[in-house]
Amino acid sequence: MGGDAEKWVLMVTARTPTNIAVIKYWGKRDETLILPINDSISVTLDPNHLCTTTTVSVSPSFDQDRMWLNGKEISLQGGRFQSCLREIRARAQDVEDKKKGIKINKEDWQKLNLHIASYNNFPTAAGLASSAAGLACLVFSLAKLMNLKEDNSQLSAIARQGSGSACRSLYGGFVKWCMGKEENGSDSLAVQLADEKHWDDLVIIIAVVSARQKETSSTSGMRDTVVTSALIDHRAKEVVPKRIVEMEDAIQKKDFPSFARLACTDSNQFHAVCLDTYPPIFYMNDTSHRIISCVEKWNRAEGTPQVAYTFDAGPNAVMIARDRKTAASLLQRLLYNFPPQSDVDLDSYVIGDKSILQDAGIKDMKDVEGLTATPEVKDSILSEKSKGDVSYFICTRPGGGPVVLADESHALLDSVTGLPK
Ligand code: ADE
Repeated sequence: MGGDAEKWVLMVTARTPTNIAVIKYWGKRDETLILPINDSISVTLDPNHLCTTTTVSVSPSFDQDRMWLNGKEISLQGGRFQSCLREIRARAQDVEDKKKGIKINKEDWQKLNLHIASYNNFPTAAGLASSAAGLACLVFSLAKLMNLKEDNSQLSAIARQGSGSACRSLYGGFVKWCMGKEENGSDSLAVQLADEKHWDDLVIIIAVVSARQKETSSTSGMRDTVVTSALIDHRAKEVVPKRIVEMEDAIQKKDFPSFARLACTDSNQFHAVCLDTYPPIFYMNDTSHRIISCVEKWNRAEGTPQVAYTFDAGPNAVMIARDRKTAASLLQRLLYNFPPQSDVDLDSYVIGDKSILQDAGIKDMKDVEGLTATPEVKDSILSEKSKGDVSYFICTRPGGGPVVLADESHALLDSVTGLPK
């Protein structure tokens, strides 16, 4: 190690997207290594709207590994963080920064301590897969800091040990997490099926649904499902392998009707398997069900799917519209059926890519109040409108993978003290 009076701080900042599975991961065959019982496929969401930014730093003056999440110090003692740190340190290489006069030999990484600061640009508690983006960003930024030779697919196998779905956030576009066969998990990793430019007509609208109670954690939910559900084996062995092949084909051909049918039926089967768990797990609520009804009725009225929906381990709806025009129409329907509470303004009710609002011809709350029922929803459960069932909507699209942010202004740690800015 070198440098002025051992006072140097070396750091890297990176940004990593979140992802939404359209063929779901549910059930582990190894709890420590986080090995799944089936392959899964996801869409990476545009990091301009949903992402994690993480700064990792190293200095001989740090006396322990420390981490801050959204400005608050958190413990790094958990087994999953420790697995990621151990796996990355084991692959660390020599690093030299001639300008700063710093030389770190690969053996030094075992003794050097790290400071890590991470920030999610969306509420961590909203149930929007923050741990997927978070763990992927931690692994990606540390890999850059320590000059690892591994590619993103090999890094995904490390991120997987922090949070299963994190492995899919190492790539943009459409990503498959191959379950793998090896007992040590070396072949359980992510591969990119297509980049974000391949199918750029798609528009994604997320309804953040107000939840009254805390959901069952995914880890304990999956464990209970694997132990008690009679359906999960059939899903993993018979249903998903066929759907994976069909979904890869639908993505490659940009076949929206097949994509939508597969995404919707797979989300529904995941929630059916949760209901088949004993005791049963309920992730969707009445609002989630009303959103499904809204989309299903519209798709049926059109004769061919316009919008796909998918729900993870919580009540939020992720809707994927076939193009911008459909997305504008979807947003009109959603705002009519799920209006905000009277004290909420439009600017905070629809966030992300606001151009979809413009396309829908909605400039202010007056325009929202002026929306009228579409024919297919008459006399349905959708006529029971109550304000505030949706907290807000996020408009986004498929997006790119992790990137290093070279400009120091993005750093979350001070370049002299290595403490949060
Ligand atoms: N859990 C939720 N968000 C996270 C983040 N950004 N980093 C690590 N763990 C997280």
